[in-house]
Amino acid sequence: MSKSTQSWGSRVGLILAMAGNAVGLGNFLRFPVKAVENGGGAFIIPYIVSFLLMGIPLLWIEWSMGRYGGARGDHSTPFILDSMAKKRLWKYFGVFGIFTNIGVMAYYTYIESWTLTYTLKSLNGDFLGMDIAAVGEAFDNYVGISGGVNVPILALVAFTVTLVINIWILSKGLSGGIEKVAKIAMPLLIGFGAFLAIMAFTMGDTGRCADCNSLVGMDFLWTPQYDSLKNPKVWLEAAGQIFFTLSVGMGTIVCYSSYLKKTDDVALNAMSAGWMNGFVEIVLGASVVIPIAVGFLGLDWVKENAGFMMAFKTMPYLFDQWGHVIAVVAGVAWFGLLFFAGITSSLAMGTPWMGFVEDEFNWSRNKASWTLGIFIFLLAMPTIFFFEYGVFDEYDYWTGTVSLVVFALAEVILFAWVFGMDKGWREINYGADIKVPLIYKYIIKWVTPIFILVIFLSSLVTPKDNDWVRAFSGNWELDGSSIIGKMVHIGQDSSWFIDGQITSFFFIDMSRLLLLGTFIGLALMVRHASKLREKKKLKQTEEEL
Ligand code: PHE
Repeated sequence: MSKSTQSWGSRVGLILAMAGNAVGLGNFLRFPVKAVENGGGAFIIPYIVSFLLMGIPLLWIEWSMGRYGGARGDHSTPFILDSMAKKRLWKYFGVFGIFTNIGVMAYYTYIESWTLTYTLKSLNGDFLGMDIAAVGEAFDNYVGISGGVNVPILALVAFTVTLVINIWILSKGLSGGIEKVAKIAMPLLIGFGAFLAIMAFTMGDTGRCADCNSLVGMDFLWTPQYDSLKNPKVWLEAAGQIFFTLSVGMGTIVCYSSYLKKTDDVALNAMSAGWMNGFVEIVLGASVVIPIAVGFLGLDWVKENAGFMMAFKTMPYLFDQWGHVIAVVAGVAWFGLLFFAGITSSLAMGTPWMGFVEDEFNWSRNKASWTLGIFIFLLAMPTIFFFEYGVFDEYDYWTGTVSLVVFALAEVILFAWVFGMDKGWREINYGADIKVPLIYKYIIKWVTPIFILVIFLSSLVTPKDNDWVRAFSGNWELDGSSIIGKMVHIGQDSSWFIDGQITSFFFIDMSRLLLLGTFIGLALMVRHASKLREKKKLKQTEEEL
C-alpha cells in the first residue's frame, strides 16, 4: 500500500485519458483488417453483441474494481484482486494485469515508433512519386526484412526515441503527464481522423477499375450478413477485437481507475470512454484505410491484401494519388493520428508496473518509470531483430490475445461470484451519474462469464479447419490455430535446426520462454511484496500490543 497522493486532475482529463487508453492502433489498424478478414458486414453483428454483453460489463467491472482498490491504497491488480477475495491465489491472477501490459508495450511501442518515423518521412515528402512496390520496399528496408542479415538501425533509433518519450511522460505522473498528453492528443486525433474520413467519403468513384469506388468499400463493411452468425470463428475474432480495442482484460483500466476518488462516478465515466472508443473505431477507423484502398485499387485487391502493414506499405502511395500537396497533408494526418492513438495507449500500459512498484517497494516515480524503460527496451529487442521469424506475432498472440481472455475471465468470476454480485452492483452504482439498467446485474452475473468462458474454451480447442460440425460429431482434431495447437506446434515440423540452419521455431520457442520468464519473475515479485505486507502487518500488531 502506498501513501500515494496521485490523482486525476479533472473529469474531462480523466475521460480523455481513459479514452486515449482505449483508442489506439487497434482502432485504425486492427479493426478494419479484422472486419475485412471476417467478411466485412459479417463481422459487425458479433462485434456489437460482444460489445454489449462483454465489453460494457467488463468496463463497469474494471472501473469499479479499480476505484474499490484505490480507496484501500492499492494501485496494482495483484493486490486489488487480493483485497476482494479471501483466497490468496487470486493475487497471482492479478499478475496478468501487469504482465500483459509489459508484453504488449514491448511490441506496441515498436509499431508506434514506425508511425513517428512515417510522420516525419511524410512531412519530408519521402514517398512522393513512388509506385506501390517502391513504398512497400521502403517499409521492408525500414524494418529490416529485405533478406539477409539486417540491423534496422533507423528503426532501432526511432524505437529508442519513442520509448524515451513514453518513459519521460510517465515519470511526470498522471495529471502532470498522461492527462496533459491526452488533452492534446485526443482532439488532434479526432480532427485528423475526421479529415481523412471526409476525403474518403468524397473521393467516390475514381474510375481506376470497375469497382474502384470508396463507397463500395463502405458498403462491404456495413452490409450485415446474417449467415456469419453461425460461424464461431467470426465470433472469436469479434470478441477478441472488443477486448483489444477497449483495453479490457489488460489491467490498465483497473489501474487508471484506482486513482479515482471514492465518490467519483464510474457508471457514466466508463460509458463515456467506452462509447468514445466505439465512435473512433467504427466511424473513423472504418472510414480510412479500407474505403480509400478500395477507391484506388478495388475490393478484390483489398480482400486479398488486407493486413495491418497496409497502413505503412500502401497508404503513402494512395495518398499520393490525390496529388503531392494533399499527399503530404494526408500522410502527416494519418501517421500523426496513429502516433497519438499509439502513445496514449502505450502510456496506459506503463502504469500497472509503476503502480505496483510504487505501492509495494516504495520506489519513486522516476525509478519506477526508468526501470520499466530498461525492461521494455530489452524485451522489445527480439521483436525488432527477429521480426522476420514471427517473434512479433508470438508476443501479440500470447500477451495481446490469450492473456486478456484469461484475466478477464478471472476478473468477472471474482467480481460476480467471489466478491459477490450484490456487493458488486452496489460498487457500480455508488456515486453513479446514470441509472445502470438492472438487466446488467444479471448479464454480469451470468451472461458475461459464460460468454468469456465459451470464447476461452473454443480458442483452447478450436477444431481443425474450424469445422465445428465435424468436431461435435466425434472427430475432434485440433487446429493449428487453437491455443493447445499453438503450444505444441500441431502439424508442423518444429525442429530448431534443419540442415544446420536455425529455423523460426527456435526464435518462436525462445520468445515464449522469455515471456514465461517475465511472468514468473513478476509472480515472484508479487509473492515477495505479499511477504513484505505480512511483515508490516505483524509489526503493526506488535506495536499496538
Ligand atoms: N486499446 C488499445 C488499442 O486499441 C490497446 C491497448 C492495449 C491499450 C493494452 C492499453 C492496454 O490499440
